[in-house]
Amino acid sequence: MSIFNISVDRRNSRSFKWDMMEQTYNLDDASEILPMWIADMDFAAPKEVVEAIEERLKHPVFGYSYVCNGCKEAIVDWYIRRHQWTINPDTILFHHGVVPAIASIIETFTNTNDKIAISTPVYPPFFNVPTNQNREIITCDLVEIDGSYTYDFAALEETFKQGVKLYILCNPHNPAGVVWSRAQLEQLVALCIKYDVYLLADEIHADLMNEGNIFTPALTVAGADQAKIISCIAPTKTFNLAGIQAAMMVVPDDHLRAQLEQNALAHGKMDLNAFASAAVQAAYTHGEEWLNELLQYLSTNMDYVVKELNAINGISVAKPQGTYLMWVDYRGTGLSEEEIMDRLLSIGKLALEPGTKYGEAGRGFLRMNIACPLATVEDGVARFKTALQ
Ligand SMILES: Cc1ncc(COP(=O)(O)O)c(C=O)c1O
Repeated sequence: MSIFNISVDRRNSRSFKWDMMEQTYNLDDASEILPMWIADMDFAAPKEVVEAIEERLKHPVFGYSYVCNGCKEAIVDWYIRRHQWTINPDTILFHHGVVPAIASIIETFTNTNDKIAISTPVYPPFFNVPTNQNREIITCDLVEIDGSYTYDFAALEETFKQGVKLYILCNPHNPAGVVWSRAQLEQLVALCIKYDVYLLADEIHADLMNEGNIFTPALTVAGADQAKIISCIAPTKTFNLAGIQAAMMVVPDDHLRAQLEQNALAHGKMDLNAFASAAVQAAYTHGEEWLNELLQYLSTNMDYVVKELNAINGISVAKPQGTYLMWVDYRGTGLSEEEIMDRLLSIGKLALEPGTKYGEAGRGFLRMNIACPLATVEDGVARFKTALQ
């Protein structure tokens, strides 16, 4: 039996996904609701990661701690092994999350009222974080083709012409699970060079490739050495460690890195905490077998959802190339977002993410997180059907 069939009770574990539904969906009681929304998994982390944290816990002194070279080597080895990407360990800066890293990058390289471009629909902090720093967001919609997306580079160029300072890339793409090709990334990098735009590449979903798809790190494409690129990576999506809080910025350009280090000093920022660095090292050292099995498991879950949901009138969903998120098109039902969300929550007792959370371009879609035991996915699909009957 797969370890991923094991159901772990997460209620009352301070889980955002399971314990914060009343607040998020404005409900009096969410005890009957099945959560398939926020992007974490219902699976236990690899046992070696748990053991590494336990091991650290056994030492009862929790004084100031640094990220050791062994941890950096584990990160570097992982990216060479999995993605043929050689990262110089000296170019890695640590942060407690990719979203906080995005905030630091925006604060460091842009000023109040500067224009930041994003391609919608996209992960909400891409617009929330800059807006909260009084930056102006300019959206350029991706082009939707049968529930997947591609870039319209001519439209993006027009956007850049408006005087954009920084572009935030989601590679692979959340919510639609698109894995951008080397050719697409090269075009994007060329545009960034042409218009002198910083490229912030959020690559947190890099490891979550569905079979046959290959992640291309933005920093490895032709022209990357001429561009102002910062990549954000993390083991937290891959190994389900979001609550541990750990991320890395890869910044090969010395000048850019010095500016980010200065920003860290200005905020009194420290390296990873003692538990996070133990977890990161263990995950990248011992997590490979676990991840390979996970990817197969997720693929089976996705096949099931594709088969079942596509049989419903008005619903269409494609298997994503990467991530564990499915982008469900309900435009054929004729329901409004309010109507379908109401049906899902009150009749189906199922919590999915409404598409407009990812920008207006997401209207007509729902995001479904299938990183849970197949039995839970089956339950979710049954609830979905009940909601639409
Ligand atoms: C594209 C993307 N970036 C960042 C994050 C969150 O990163 P962190 O938890 O490290 O802040 C997520 C989580 O869903 C995500 O999908």
